Amino acid sequence: MFESLTRVPPDPILGVSAAFQKDPSTDKVDLGVGVYKDEAGKTPVPRAVRRAEQDLIAAQTTKAYLSPVGNPGFNTQVAALTFGVDLAGRKADLSLAQAPGGSGALHLGALFLAAARAGSIAYVSDPTWANHLPLLGAAGLKVERYPYYDAHTNGLAFDRMLGFLDALPADSVVVLHACCHNPTGQDLDVAQWQAVAEVLAKRRLLPFVDMAYQGLGEDLDRDAASIRLIAKAVPEMLVAVSCSKNFGVYRERTGLLAVVSANTEQASIHAGQLGRIARTVWSMPPDHGAAVVDRVLATPELRQEWVTELTHMANRINSLRSLLAEKLTTASGADFGWIKQQRGMFSRLPLRAEQVVTLREQHHIYMAPDGRINIAGISPANCTRVAESIATVMKAG
Ligand code: LMR
Repeated sequence: MFESLTRVPPDPILGVSAAFQKDPSTDKVDLGVGVYKDEAGKTPVPRAVRRAEQDLIAAQTTKAYLSPVGNPGFNTQVAALTFGVDLAGRKADLSLAQAPGGSGALHLGALFLAAARAGSIAYVSDPTWANHLPLLGAAGLKVERYPYYDAHTNGLAFDRMLGFLDALPADSVVVLHACCHNPTGQDLDVAQWQAVAEVLAKRRLLPFVDMAYQGLGEDLDRDAASIRLIAKAVPEMLVAVSCSKNFGVYRERTGLLAVVSANTEQASIHAGQLGRIARTVWSMPPDHGAAVVDRVLATPELRQEWVTELTHMANRINSLRSLLAEKLTTASGADFGWIKQQRGMFSRLPLRAEQVVTLREQHHIYMAPDGRINIAGISPANCTRVAESIATVMKAG
């Protein structure tokens, strides 16, 4: 019966990590999967998270079931972090469900959309996170693309993006990256978000915002400005939040889906639907990561410590951006200043897939096949070698 199944090609992102692990080279560099790395190249558990875990283990008296929508404290805390303390004025319209990571939140949101309207088309940015397409497709949505990035200028194709959205039929789903665009690092500014929000409202489009890197671009509030602004402009939207990166709880699978409904009556129906769908796929989300995040956010001292650590992470990434831009410009003679303007963990280098393979095979530098690099994988110690290797491969054509 299973003979019909075919071999699965390596995952474009996780496959890079697998290949990196197998490389015996001592000066290999991993710029693949999007995990934060510190000065020593390690992905630490933030101190505030470790302390919250210790408190939790000491205090927890039961591991009995919660509910299909998870931990209410976590849901409320993360909603406030996302929408702001005033919940963008939409408190009565919000339904929240804890989900297994940002991917679980996206999946739950896609199933919710498919249940509301079978055959919905979700438009994703061109390019987008490699897993958006299979993930949304597996939940029953049709996936198409809207213009986003101009590879000639290494910047935003904003006029084309806006024009495209302005011609979409009503009820089209538009998947947006709240901040730290994956894979390009190229974000919209506030005026551009305002223009997008107006088009979403005017064309009655359904925004589905993915926020996986809050606090790793500018700061917690500025990185969420897009969501807060859109929530004030449109009647309905979905937001999928990941805590993997900003809390360093990657393997704990900690995320939130927020549905903003047109009114309170609709919200109570939608809350029930989220619970129903979650019950059919994972019954209940895993507890630990959410319990830890809830504790960090609800304990002023831990929260302050976490904000300080997160600020350090963002500052480190942004200073590595400056360093890499400078080294690449020097090594190649071309202008890489655009890397400094981008935000979050990623930028996408103008490399062909074969050049990415050459960097891996001849220079032991690993990145996603589309040239996406994890800036946090760079360090002052390896930056010159990385930049010179990239410049060598680019010059060879
Ligand atoms: C990434 O884009 O590298 C991360 O979001 C990890 C993943 O699951 O792909």
